[in-house]
Formats: sequence, C-alpha cells, structure tokens
Amino acid sequence: MFAAPGRVNLIGEHTDYAEGFVMPAAIDFATLAGVSPRTDGKVAIRAENYGEERVYETGALPQTRSRDWSDYPVGVLKMMEEDGYRIPGLSLTLWGDVPLGSGLSSSAAVEVATATAVADLVNAKYTGPELARLCQRAENQFVGSACGIMDQFVSVNAREGHALLLDCRDLSYRLAPIPEDVALVIANTMVKHAVTGGEYTSRRAEVEEATEAIRRHRPEVKFLRDATVEDLERWGGEMSENARKRARHVITENQRTVAAAKALICKDLRELGRLMAEAHWSYSRDFEASCEEADAMVELAQDLPGLIGARLTGGGFGGCTVNLVEAGSAEEFRSALKERYKARTGIEAQVYICHASAGAHRVE
Ligand code: GLA
Repeated sequence: MFAAPGRVNLIGEHTDYAEGFVMPAAIDFATLAGVSPRTDGKVAIRAENYGEERVYETGALPQTRSRDWSDYPVGVLKMMEEDGYRIPGLSLTLWGDVPLGSGLSSSAAVEVATATAVADLVNAKYTGPELARLCQRAENQFVGSACGIMDQFVSVNAREGHALLLDCRDLSYRLAPIPEDVALVIANTMVKHAVTGGEYTSRRAEVEEATEAIRRHRPEVKFLRDATVEDLERWGGEMSENARKRARHVITENQRTVAAAKALICKDLRELGRLMAEAHWSYSRDFEASCEEADAMVELAQDLPGLIGARLTGGGFGGCTVNLVEAGSAEEFRSALKERYKARTGIEAQVYICHASAGAHRVE
C-alpha cells in the first residue's frame, strides 16, 4: 500500500509552465493505492470512493480517455507502457480524502499513488523527478489537461514540515522549513475549480501569446521565466491587453516566489505575508483567475488575529485559499473565518488546519 499527498501552493501560480518558480507543500490529505499481482491476465482498478471498478485485459488498456476517474490511473499505466514496462495482471485499489475540485491536486495524488504502487510492483526504477514527469505526461497526453509539473512534483518529492521552492526549468529544488508555530489553514470557498476546463487553457494561451511577442525582439526568451518587466514595458503594445496583464502577473510572480522562499528561510514572516497578499491581488486583477468568493475569503482573513498571509491557491477560478496563521490562533481563526464567510456569501465553507507532509511513500 502506498500513499501520495495533495498539495497547497504557498506562492507561484501559473508560473510552472512558464519554466518559473513555485513554492508548494504537501498536505495531510492523500490518495492511498493498494496493489497486488493477479494471475488471470486482468488489470482491475477499483475506486473505493465511487464504489466502482474497471477491468481490462493486460496489453489492452483503453486507447482513449473515458472522461471519468479511471483516466488518471489508466493514463499512468499507459505512460509506463510507453516507457517500455509491461503492465502485468494486477488489482489496484484507490481511496482518497483530498477534497475534489478544490485546487488541492486530487488528480496528482491519484496519479502519483498509482505510479508509486505500480512502479514498485513491476520493479521500475524512476527517480523522483522522473516519476513526476511520468504523471504529468499521463495528465497532458491521456487525460487531456495542459497542467504544468508543480502538483505531481511536490506529491512525489515533498518533505514533512517543509515547503519546496521548485525551479520548474531544471526541476532543482530547495526545501524551506515551515516554522513549528505556523499553521497551514486551508479555506475551501466551495466554488468548484477544474484544470480541464477552458479557463486554465485560455490563460495558458495568453501567456504564450505574450511570450511570442517578446521573443520576436529577444529570441533568447523561450518562456516568460526569461522575460522582465522592462521587456513588457517596451513591447507590451505588440500583444493583446489580456496577454499583457497575464504576463505581468507571471513575470512579477516569479520574482515574488523567489523572494518569498528567502523570507520563509530567514523566518521573515511579515515579508512573506506581504508577498502573499501582493500575489493574491496580482492573480485576481492581472491574471483574473480569482472569483468573488475567493477574493472575499482573502479579504475577510486580513484582520483576524494570527494571520501571517492569505491568498487563493492552485489553478484558480474557485477552490481554496491558503492562510499562514500563528499556530496558537489557528482554531479561532478557522471558526471566525467560517462565520464571516457565511455572513458575506451565505456559503458554509470547509476550513482545514493542515500540516506540511511527506511526499509519496509506502504505508506499512
Ligand atoms: C494547476 C496545475 C499546475 C499549475 C497550477 C497553477 O494546479 O496543475 O501545473 O499550473 O494550476 O499554478
């Protein structure tokens, strides 16, 4: 049996596919994958959460997606086959408690749990970064969502008690300890988020439009990671207004993310909180990936005792906010935030006090 966690991103949104920086941590919600060999030549995948099972003949996994939960584990198995591994008869049972459609990477948790379990069964030797790439490929090529590498990477490689500053260009990373007296409070707006939906993809296209416009003048700009605010000032007129705004978010977000990692490592929590606030409003106003409810959740947290920093986390358009809160105030913070949010929006939010957890591992 293997476990792979969901994640919360502290800062660095829509920067991963621009080969920039992100700083996520794994959380204590996870997918569990139990795997065992079978001798009847069948690959049976069971989703405990749905009480459903799919059974395939070995060597005859589906060619195309079915647009349901099975796409994630099947996609991973198919990518392993592409890598030259023969998938034998097996039973794979999945169960998870990562809230679905909340921007906490329930999909990555399923992919990574599947990959870790089946890699063990077939004795496949993947390094951490390779395993993350395998899962990302499953999502890009089989599930059909254009996600970056962040979610899968942190689900594989996270370390307990730490956030991970990841350079999405070369997948090198640095661990930043989260102080013992800081709690990760995750507030679910209950507005559904989806990466497969059109908004994520159209934002990505606008980022690419901006990159191309800058690249015409500076060919060395392969991704927005390579661009500067000055580039945007000079050539912003040669792209659509939307592309310019999306690019401004991505370029400044990269700088904020590196600065935030530094602040966390130096325990400069004031600076970290300031950067998170700036990141939220950049995400909301320039990237336009927030929503009324998420903006409200961030605003309502601002003057609550113990708050260090708050922002919308994940792919956007709903989902959760991440709040760094002094641990001693976390419980009160949670109930006050729920109450305020209910009064403002009429919605009963779920608020989780989480702990930065370890990446994928065997469960004894
Ligand atoms: C989703 C994607 C990630 C990343 C974030 C936005 O979670 O899966 O790759 O792009 O959105 O930062």
